Amino acid sequence: MAIYPIRTFGDPVLRTNAVKVSDDVASLERLVSDMLETMYEAPGVGLAAPQIGISKRVFVADIGEGPFIMVNPEIVDVSGSWTFDEGCLSVPGFYWPIKRPGYAKARGFDIEGNEIEFEGDELMGRVLQHEIDHLNGMLLLERLPRRAKKQALRDIREQSLGLVDRP
Ligand code: NI
Repeated sequence: MAIYPIRTFGDPVLRTNAVKVSDDVASLERLVSDMLETMYEAPGVGLAAPQIGISKRVFVADIGEGPFIMVNPEIVDVSGSWTFDEGCLSVPGFYWPIKRPGYAKARGFDIEGNEIEFEGDELMGRVLQHEIDHLNGMLLLERLPRRAKKQALRDIREQSLGLVDRP
């Protein structure tokens, strides 16, 4: 097992459409256990492979009910609407109120190649949508309305320039 550094905003891997997994199970087991260890260490409720620099369609998550993983997942159903202060390990320290469907269902595979589905409201629905966005090269900022996104980009830039904590 190994803890990976988490890639942050500005890293091109986070804007890249990740590649569909066709690897054998053995190599995925290693990847998934490293991803879980990295996620728990951070700590976070979800982590997608691109966030550790591996452009493959895999994510791990744990919303407090135990770990789960999805390989080649897709959102197959959404409904409702829910605004939640969403954060991301790749944009550390920031939370923005982001409106998305409240319920989501995702279909994909486990590491043995069996088809699996996960679904849920609120945090579960949010994690499924957020992690699958990562696999499509999309960060949570892209889900903000235009003005809020511009402000968020300014805030990130100021923080990265070290202006935020200056007296
Ligand atoms: Ni994220």
